[in-house]
Amino acid sequence: MLIQKDIDLQDKHSFHCPAKTEYWVEYAHVDELRQILVEANDFALPIMPVGGCCNLLFCKDYEGILLHSCIKDWKILEEDEDSLLLQAGAGINWDEWVALTVEKGWGGLQNLSGIPGEVGASPVQNIGAYGVEAKDCIEAVQVFDRETLQLKTLKAEECCFGYRMSRFKEDWKELYIVCYVHFRLSKKPSFCLDYGKLKEEVEALGEVSLSNVRQAVLSIRNSKLPDPDKLGNAGSFFKNPCIPQADFAALQADYPDMPSWPQKDGSVKISAAWLIDKAGWKGYREGDAGVCETQALVLVNHGNAHGEDIYRLYEKIAADVEEKFHIKLYPEVVILK
Ligand code: EPU
Repeated sequence: MLIQKDIDLQDKHSFHCPAKTEYWVEYAHVDELRQILVEANDFALPIMPVGGCCNLLFCKDYEGILLHSCIKDWKILEEDEDSLLLQAGAGINWDEWVALTVEKGWGGLQNLSGIPGEVGASPVQNIGAYGVEAKDCIEAVQVFDRETLQLKTLKAEECCFGYRMSRFKEDWKELYIVCYVHFRLSKKPSFCLDYGKLKEEVEALGEVSLSNVRQAVLSIRNSKLPDPDKLGNAGSFFKNPCIPQADFAALQADYPDMPSWPQKDGSVKISAAWLIDKAGWKGYREGDAGVCETQALVLVNHGNAHGEDIYRLYEKIAADVEEKFHIKLYPEVVILK
């Protein structure tokens, strides 16, 4: 267990904006987590579980306890001819986890290669990329119940996974802390290569295999998404909006080249990056807050931007896109104001 007071967060979160936390607490076992929560009761401070802090914008210091899981063990829970059920600790680095599963020849997570963060965040935000979402492989989530102080297993169906969404972000936010995620992976993988130029990239590497899909995804990501250790960012700052079919038809009449993805519920997902790009914001910079030059969905800290600077830029972009396209953009990143 690690308990630190007045900790600088600049190197601990991917935007690298100046901010501090009153307490930074780490635990390696469920028993330690229980002990921390019992003792924290006396402090009456807010508690926020964090993973790799790759999806957070700190606009001010955090007056409370940031609780970081260092549960890093994993094991096979079940195995048959076709598949395995794996349990992975919340504190395992996400990409190291994906790399391990790919190396072992277990299919399912390969399209999610290169996503920053830790395993524990994967169900919370239902991370996704290149046509795959974490929910496609998550069978259950083992959580710590803050009321009963016990571990509990929640089935995927209970989690209401949606696009970058789950109950962990909503009504379960204050109740559960993710400790382990159970992934069902395949020994006879099928491949999902329909997103963008993924298929071409994989074929250029040779056979369609787990490791080639991983390599292709990593190379596409590296060509567009800045490395947070070199240029502060939190990946996509905005969610792609889902709009009613009628609104989409009206927009498409004016912009026939606009990328779109029809959804099962009849709505149409459109590209926030395209809207921001079209509105002229790509590569824009105001002081050290900017819009990435290679992916308009990503806001970046060129060095000394404060969280508030990034936030103001986000507001300006959202207001401009709304004025030009009548589409409201919502942040994907969690903003702490
Ligand atoms: N586009 C532009 N301008 C840009 C960037 C993209 O017009 O500056 C257009 C592209 O031409 C393409 C479309 O927008 O037609 C979609 O672009 P891209 O494939 O890069 O994906 P995205 O929708 O912008 C989403 C996820 C990413 C994920 C990629 C690939 C969200 C909010 N973002 O981005 O996730 O890597 O798809 O699957 O859903 C993240 O969540 O942090 C993240 C990076």
